[in-house]
Amino acid sequence: MNGARLEDNKDKTDPGTGENYLEKKENTVNIIYRRTEAPAIMCSEDTFLRLSLRSSLEKTPLPETEDTQDTIKQFLSDRILKAARVVYSTLMERNPGLIRDRKHHLKTYRQCCSGKELVDWLMKLNDCFQSRSQAVGMWQVLVDEGILSHVKQELNYQDKETQFYRFMEAEFDLNHTTNEKDSKDDELQESLSLLVQMGPDALLTMILRKCPNQRTPEDLEVIYEELLHFKAVAHLSTSVRKELAAVLVFESHAKAGTVLFNQGDKGTSWYIIWRGSVNVITHGKGLVTTLHEGDDFGQLALVNDAPRSATIILREDNCHFLRVDKQDFIRILKDVEANTVRLEEHGQVVLVHLSTYLGGSASSSKYTVMSGTPEKILEHMLDTIKLETNGADFIDPSVTDFLLTHPVFMPCSQLCAALQHHYQVEPSEGTDLEKTAYALNTKQKVVKLVAHWVALYGPLLRDNHVAFEFLEKLREAVMADSRLSSMLREQLRDRRKTKITENGCHNLTKLNQKFDWFSAYEEPVGKLRSIKAEDKVLYEIFKPDHKSVTVMLPVDASVNNILTTLVDPERDYVLVKMNSSGDRVQLKLETTAVSASLGVNEKLFLCSASQVEQLTPVKEQLGPEKSTMDSLEQMCSKDMASQHTSYDWELFMAMHEVELVYYVFGREKFQGATTANLERFVRRFNETQYWVVTELCLCEDLVKRAILLKKFIKMAVVFKELKNLNSFFAVMFGLSNSAVQRLNKTWERLPNKTKRIYCAYERLMDPSRNHRAYRLAVAKLSPPYIPFMPLLLKDMTFIHEGNKNYTDKLVNFEKMRMIARTVKTVQQCRSQPYVPPSPQKGLTERMFSDTQAIRLSTYSDQSLTLRNAANIRQYIQNLKVIDNQKKLTQLSRAIER
Ligand code: CMP
Repeated sequence: MNGARLEDNKDKTDPGTGENYLEKKENTVNIIYRRTEAPAIMCSEDTFLRLSLRSSLEKTPLPETEDTQDTIKQFLSDRILKAARVVYSTLMERNPGLIRDRKHHLKTYRQCCSGKELVDWLMKLNDCFQSRSQAVGMWQVLVDEGILSHVKQELNYQDKETQFYRFMEAEFDLNHTTNEKDSKDDELQESLSLLVQMGPDALLTMILRKCPNQRTPEDLEVIYEELLHFKAVAHLSTSVRKELAAVLVFESHAKAGTVLFNQGDKGTSWYIIWRGSVNVITHGKGLVTTLHEGDDFGQLALVNDAPRSATIILREDNCHFLRVDKQDFIRILKDVEANTVRLEEHGQVVLVHLSTYLGGSASSSKYTVMSGTPEKILEHMLDTIKLETNGADFIDPSVTDFLLTHPVFMPCSQLCAALQHHYQVEPSEGTDLEKTAYALNTKQKVVKLVAHWVALYGPLLRDNHVAFEFLEKLREAVMADSRLSSMLREQLRDRRKTKITENGCHNLTKLNQKFDWFSAYEEPVGKLRSIKAEDKVLYEIFKPDHKSVTVMLPVDASVNNILTTLVDPERDYVLVKMNSSGDRVQLKLETTAVSASLGVNEKLFLCSASQVEQLTPVKEQLGPEKSTMDSLEQMCSKDMASQHTSYDWELFMAMHEVELVYYVFGREKFQGATTANLERFVRRFNETQYWVVTELCLCEDLVKRAILLKKFIKMAVVFKELKNLNSFFAVMFGLSNSAVQRLNKTWERLPNKTKRIYCAYERLMDPSRNHRAYRLAVAKLSPPYIPFMPLLLKDMTFIHEGNKNYTDKLVNFEKMRMIARTVKTVQQCRSQPYVPPSPQKGLTERMFSDTQAIRLSTYSDQSLTLRNAANIRQYIQNLKVIDNQKKLTQLSRAIER
């Protein structure tokens, strides 16, 4: 069952530094963002492969062997066929009348269904369908497999009354159903969920196969969303991507070795690789490079109006491309230039705009900032704020993008000074009345923008003395002007109301007291506190003899600070970070916040330079020697997952969104910034992942181990139900660790149903097409939910590495917009408060209700759950893990040869 696995690129080079960031020891692979001295995201080999960052420096991976590809294909086809049999038998049982002779245009079509009726039926059958197109996608899966066939063999499924389809009953033996043991309802749910998962892909392929002029606005939106994840178009503006969506053509080739075009040919199209890879070969040099999924080629001949500079040959079977023909390519790129407006001041370009066509009337277009000087971008942002007399002011989303990313290109002091300047600006032209009106208008806009800034950053601005001083001054100025103060009170009242609804408490009395920017940001009582840069924390530092000293120092203390606190600065001491495998990194004196960036079992060591090589890990780094099975037996998976999620929420909420920006661009570049909360959250992911592997590898009893394995799968189910995707993936990655995957005897003991659930979830981890399966699943989620944080960080790193901060000395605002888009995802996830689940019987229970699988605990009853909650919380907050892959593999080999 675990055999089929997709290989991704084994990129071993840090795209930023060119350093080798892949440290591979046995099965351990650490992704280390050295540049930022951030914590390693420790992943199993598979995790790494799945998360590997694409870059132009990619190494050429070996193609999957035909065998592997065939196995994967067969594996999927078998599952689809099984699902089709279940759906077909349900249709025959419940609505056999849908299959009948149909007449259209004087012709009779024997024993078929109408496209529309099949969609209607499916939508009624299950409320998991949110739109008709989702159901269409599902039927398209069956059409693609040939199980459902259009009466005229059309390839695209159509949701229409007069398009008829037949089930290929005889060819596929659709009346044959297996697994009588399982209840039909469960089987139907599983089948639908498989088809729902596969539907979006089939739908997208179907849309791409359509003739471009037949694509609907929804179709274009689907393609556009897909394009967002392609490196080839990542640098293009939204409008260009939208235009591309309208003209892209799907092209596929079945056989490796097919020549797409030859060097010297006339250039007719530009290609993006959607699936597969190609070799680029030139006459003089032979194979010059290999291009992979997401890469593009064929632009040179079009741009330079020259012959093809290389021959392109398919490197594997079944490659899919998105093709743009020359005419469209030239038109769209030419349009980019034609619609670009450059604003100059004193002979220097200060702002570059792109006119975006919004559809509808010709005049309905909007300017999007592409790049500019920080001051000019700010000025433009103030211009976009619309003050309405009815109070419904409009703040353009790009203002949020600007504010979320300003630390990258406009430090706080510069922003405050510029805002101060705008607030005080006195127009030199016009009548007195006009001047007064203009000044008031500008002041109002500044206040609006600042209030929005405070709303986004909250207490971070209170802790930043430059910002705080500016806000205090502005507050006094605003208070002195009744027109402004009433406007601001109104705005804050609105925000406070929202906060109150979110928190469900507080009273409004404070609103009438002296105005305070931060009145809406009291620390929630009883919740995990956010770590601030200047907070003092305990540093535990070991010596070569494994004795330790502890000191209280600020989170952002530098290595130099630590050393001078501990030892005579004249002496030759160094601070070393070492993980449980004994890998050591000698820390530079200027490095800061080393404690926050420690990996799961990493520790700090103090020694003389000559002692570094002799350092060995301390005992507690090695992790536990015994499994905690006794405790685990006392806790039911649902309660554990629920407590785990509550704790994850606290960790997640303690993190400020802007920490993502600091983390990706390098915390040390931002004065007074901390990423400690984000790092703590990322560490939790690694810890959970290794906890799963550790517990399974330490459990020597086969029967208990199988029960434990089932328990972890069940936890994954609950995590998914609770929309805690971070821990869902942590558990799934733990289960896919090679030390766990090789435990065949344990996997064999799993009930079939559990195996099937695990397989279905494995699909969500499929890294192909930039984790499309996961992205589609998340796109449907409503907040609150916890996203899969390593993937978000990967996305942001991808954007950061692939785009410069400045273009022609101007801030590359397109990049900032892309960065802010991911940051806003986190905002969106937390836009609703998390409410812990009620203990009623949920889907998980139904899925795992077979009694033959022994329930580990009978403690799921509510009162006991409450009694146990504190114990469970205590347990899951203090997970002890082995994070040394070599050791885990040894343990795994010892329990199962
Ligand atoms: P074009 O000349 O239109 O067709 C061949 C394509 O191969 C070329 O555009 C580039 O997109 C792509 N290519 C990638 N690497 C190279 C290379 N080193 N030399 C030539 N072409 C390359």
